[in-house]
Amino acid sequence: VVGMWILAFYVLGTVAGKEVCYPRLGCFTDDPPWSGVPGRLLTGLPESPEHMNITFSLYTRETGNNSQVISAINSSTIQKSHFSSRRNTSFIIHGFGSTGKKGWVVEMCLLLLEVENINCIAVDWQQGANGTYVSAVNNIRVIGAEVAYFIKTLQKIFRYSLHKIHLIGHSLGAHTAGEAGRRIQGIRRITGLDPAGPYFEGTPPEVRLDPSDADFVDVIHSNAAHFPAIGLGMYNTTGHLDFYPNGGTVMPGCADLIPEMKLILLFSFNPATRTVKTVYATIIGGCHHSRSHEFYFESILYPTGYLGYPCETYKSFESGDCFPCPQEGCPMMGHHADRFSAKLKRVNQKYFLNTAADPPFATWRQKVFVKLSGVKKMKGDINLVFHDTEGKTKEYEIASGVLSQDQVYTKYLDVEINPKNTKKIEFLWNKTIFTLLWARLGAENVHIIHGEDGHLNNYKPR
Ligand SMILES: *[C@@H]1O[C@H](CO)[C@@H](O)[C@H](O)[C@H]1NC(C)=O
Ligand SMILES: *[C@@H]1O[C@H](CO)[C@@H](O)[C@H](O)[C@H]1NC(C)=O
Ligand SMILES: *[C@@H]1O[C@H](CO)[C@@H](O)[C@H](O)[C@H]1NC(C)=O
Ligand SMILES: *[C@@H]1O[C@H](CO)[C@@H](O)[C@H](O)[C@H]1NC(C)=O
Ligand SMILES: *[C@@H]1O[C@H](CO)[C@@H](O)[C@H](O)[C@H]1NC(C)=O
Ligand SMILES: *[C@@H]1O[C@H](CO)[C@@H](O)[C@H](O)[C@H]1NC(C)=O
Ligand SMILES: *[C@@H]1O[C@H](CO)[C@@H](O)[C@H](O)[C@H]1NC(C)=O
Repeated sequence: VVGMWILAFYVLGTVAGKEVCYPRLGCFTDDPPWSGVPGRLLTGLPESPEHMNITFSLYTRETGNNSQVISAINSSTIQKSHFSSRRNTSFIIHGFGSTGKKGWVVEMCLLLLEVENINCIAVDWQQGANGTYVSAVNNIRVIGAEVAYFIKTLQKIFRYSLHKIHLIGHSLGAHTAGEAGRRIQGIRRITGLDPAGPYFEGTPPEVRLDPSDADFVDVIHSNAAHFPAIGLGMYNTTGHLDFYPNGGTVMPGCADLIPEMKLILLFSFNPATRTVKTVYATIIGGCHHSRSHEFYFESILYPTGYLGYPCETYKSFESGDCFPCPQEGCPMMGHHADRFSAKLKRVNQKYFLNTAADPPFATWRQKVFVKLSGVKKMKGDINLVFHDTEGKTKEYEIASGVLSQDQVYTKYLDVEINPKNTKKIEFLWNKTIFTLLWARLGAENVHIIHGEDGHLNNYKPR
């Protein structure tokens, strides 16, 4: 603890009052809240936009995979491109150690274009994101300013409405979107995909994504640092709607139970100048952290498979306290979150859901009641098998052990098959299959309540 305080003293003591200015973007200081506030004991200033070679690549239905590089510095590149001022525009912003020139950012643009006729702009700042984590944290202030400058240019040349703009950012990219939205108020929507936690959790709203950065801010937490787990994401709410899939910290299907990523910070102390420098920081793995953008991607095609239930805690959600959806409905996590009519009613509202371990991750939560008949008391197990119209099946256990007649067995299931595509549900009693509506013994009654509308389906074996 003493060591930490000494470190904090040097970090704070050596940086106060530095400033750097860049043409077009203005000046950046390291005064509070940018450094030297709780949760943000770091040094340094952002690098220049030229150093980071920030690139805006435009994808439209005309360009397909052959994107066009456009620039607000030379706005004729925008006018000569396939950018259309009649369409909405989405900006996709990557995080630490990543790139906007290939991978998930490009794939996201291409999938969005399949469902919406938009301008999709992949923002690349790889050269500002591949140094230390601390340098990337500082750099996003310039990236956010560049995105804001780009949007101001669109306003100037096309009288482009801020109401047509959606910023989507992952990790540090989420806070980059927040910074752009702080500088240019009135953007329709910002989506934060597992906003980075280190140096942002618990900081003043100016330095991180918060609900004042856009008309609507939705957030997916997939690797929230929450004791005792290590995480790269923020635990606290930071939008209008904050979604915590699988509790928000550890994602099913990721190989390690403990999040894989480690944030390694090594400090070097220079006795001559009495300064502390961060020399190295890296992330190993990142499966849990990346799930946030994978969920968003899949949610584009599976809107109802990502319903979030309003609840105080994940534990409470798991025990069934917050089922089914309230009267105002449940918002859909991901791309279709803005369809929720009550989305602006409040801020910092938590929503919970469970996902599957594999793509498309979508599940439909259902409450199942099974009442047995034809048996007094015996050992066995009850399973339900869901069949979809394409022949895919998923099996779920309802109860096992000593089972008795007249008892009702209840279970919450996150079924990987959309009820709309469910062809039949089979009842498995002691490994014997009975098709519901046909079985003569076994289940007397199977009720299934769907979470979306609380609708009760009654399956009565004959
Ligand atoms: C900067 O980005 C542009 C556009 O992608 C690319 O053509 C150029 O090579 C990059 N410059 C450097 C120094 O990496
Ligand atoms: C887009 O092009 C890149 C190379 O230019 C390629 O790696 C990628 O697979 C392409 N993606 C699609 C969806 O065609
Ligand atoms: C601006 O972009 C156009 C292409 O759209 C190019 O011909 C021109 O040379 C650029 N001007 C500057 C100053 O870079
Ligand atoms: C832009 O997006 C909004 C919100 O999704 C939608 O209501 C509107 O129809 C879109 N506009 C165009 C021109 O596609
Ligand atoms: C960052 O990426 C650029 C271009 O990809 C490369 O030139 C540079 O060496 C990289 N920096 C580090 C610290 O890896
Ligand atoms: C979490 O967010 C709420 C609402 O913004 C705030 O009141 C609270 O102080 C935050 N807690 C932490 C630990 O940052
Ligand atoms: C299956 O049922 C039979 C009686 O019908 C019983 O003897 C047997 O133990 C049951 N098996 C299991 C695995 O419960």
